[in-house]
This record gives sequence, structure tokens and C-alpha cells, in this order.
Amino acid sequence: MIIDGKKISEKRLELLREEIDESGLYPRLATVIAGDDPASKMYVRMKHQACEKVHIGSIGISLPPDAGTSDVLEEIKKLNNDPDISGILVQLPLPAGVDTMKVIEAVSPAKDVDGFHPYNIGRLMSGHPVYAPCTPKGIMTLLEECNISIEGKKAVVVGRSIEVGRPMAALLLNADATVTICHSRTKNLAAETSSADILVSAAGKARFITADMVKDNAVVIDVGTNYIDGKLCGDVDFENVRDKAAAITPVPGGVGPMTIATLMENTYLAAKFSLCSIVL
Ligand SMILES: NC(=O)c1ccc[n+]([C@@H]2O[C@H](COP(=O)([O-])OP(=O)(O)OC[C@H]3O[C@@H](n4cnc5c(N)ncnc54)[C@H](OP(=O)(O)O)[C@@H]3O)[C@@H](O)[C@H]2O)c1
Repeated sequence: MIIDGKKISEKRLELLREEIDESGLYPRLATVIAGDDPASKMYVRMKHQACEKVHIGSIGISLPPDAGTSDVLEEIKKLNNDPDISGILVQLPLPAGVDTMKVIEAVSPAKDVDGFHPYNIGRLMSGHPVYAPCTPKGIMTLLEECNISIEGKKAVVVGRSIEVGRPMAALLLNADATVTICHSRTKNLAAETSSADILVSAAGKARFITADMVKDNAVVIDVGTNYIDGKLCGDVDFENVRDKAAAITPVPGGVGPMTIATLMENTYLAAKFSLCSIVL
């Protein structure tokens, strides 16, 4: 099975739009970007376009490349205090001079739709997530939509970043998988990956997961976005792994679209939370 992330995300967005329309709520997402990185600008544009599709309002704060930590913090403070803003997304990476951790910690946990604030990471690790980071949460949605069971399965995650690897492992653990996290210092990576019933690769290395590293009938989730000769490809050697895998996500058209759809879902969740007395 090729897991069609584009189709699944479109279906989810359609359902979300209906739910938002019926709710009478008007969720609003604020994006904060600093610098001129073309890829970051493109991601932010795609997020605003997704907002339009599902009737979420959006505003974009754009800071110059020489913005410092205090400039970003000032914008975050305003957005935290603005009752019309449901969710705040700070596009990473920030320019070298900005203290990223300080910025992440400044976002109100209640508006932290990216789920990177230590409060939200802590909730996730304790098994009680409020907002889980969008890429791994989107992967859980893909697995659910494809009726792939997780309980009791051996899951291996390659990568331990705060954005993908660590929260992915936590979500799989919360769903009762037995989880191994691999990273650049892991000894005999192939032995680890080839033991996985569910293999998630988030290493950012083109065609790095080869067929001999994958168990027969494994579920293979490819998070990587890499370029070879200007062409987008994942971490997985898709053409050779697809015949071995029970299910596999392509790149493009797999995890990427679901990440943005999940951001929309988290923003709607934030709008709903702002109505009730949940204190984060
Ligand atoms: N499709 C999407 O929506 C989406 C979203 C986010 C990210 N991505 C993509 O996913 C990839 C990972 O993103 P990220 O932010 O997690 O990247 P990252 O912060 O660079 O983390 C990469 C991880 O891979 C590990 N790694 C690197 N080389 C390895 C090797 N040879 N063997 C085992 N592990 C290795 C690193 O280990 P160490 O910790 O030891 O250095 C690190 O933990 C990138 O290609 C990124 O563009 C896609």
C-alpha cells in the first residue's frame, strides 16, 4: 500500500472546514518568520493557503534577517496577549543570532500549536498531550486512517530532533508500541531498522534507508525532505523498498501534506480551548 498523504490530508481538511463552519468559531493563526530563507517563506505561504481553505484566519509577522531575540520576543508577547489569535507558529530555523529556545519558551503553551513548548513536550512525554508537534501527530493520523495497528508493534524511529524524532517516539509509545530511537551514534543501525514493524525515518539523508535495512512487510514512514539534482526525495530508497513494505509513504505526497493539515487541526483545537476554562 502506498499511503497517499495528499489524499488523506485533503479529506481531513474538508472535514475540518465543515466542523469549523458548524462551530461558529473563527480560529486565527499567526505565523512569525525572520529572515529571507526561501524554503521557510514557501512553508509559511503554504500554511496561510491551508488556513484559507479551512476558514481559519491568518496573519503573518515578517521580521528582517538581522532581527534579534528581543525583536522576536516582542512580537510573541503581542500575539500571546491578543485574544483574537488562537495559535502562534514560529517558523524555524530562526536566524543564527536568535535564541530559538527562548523564543519557543515565550510562546504561550495555550497557543503553541506547533507543540514545541517544554510544557507541551512534557504533557506529551507524560502520556497526556495537548498539542503534539504536527509532523509526528500527522503521521499518527496517517497510520490511523490506513487502519495500521500500533499496539504491541516494534517501532524504530531514526532521528531524535525535538520537532520529529523525539515526539514521534513518544506518540508511538503512548499508542503502546515498543519503541527504539536511533541517531547518528547508533551502532549497527541496519540491525535496529530491520527489526522494525513500523519504521519512521527522520534523518534528512537522501535514499539512506535501503531495502536491506527494512524487514519484510514493515510499515515505512519517510519524513525526510532531501534534494538530489534539484529533485525532492525522502530518506528511503522508495523504488527498492516499496516491494518489501506492507505500506510506505512517498516523498512528495506522504508526510508533508499531513503536517500542514495537522497544524490546521491544532489551531482549531486552540480556538476551542480558548472558549473553555482549560488553563495551560
Ligand atoms: N515532511 C515534513 O513535514 C517534515 C517536517 C519536519 C522535518 N522534515 C524533514 O525530516 C528530516 C529530519 O528533520 P529534523 O528536523 O528532525 O532534522 P535534524 O534536526 O537534522 O535531525 C536529524 C536526526 O537524524 C539523525 N541522523 C543523522 N544522520 C544519521 C545517521 N547516519 N544515522 C542515524 N541517524 C542519523 C541525527 O542524529 P544526531 O541527533 O545524533 O545528530 C538527528 O537526530 C529532514 O529532511 C527534514 O527536512 C520533514
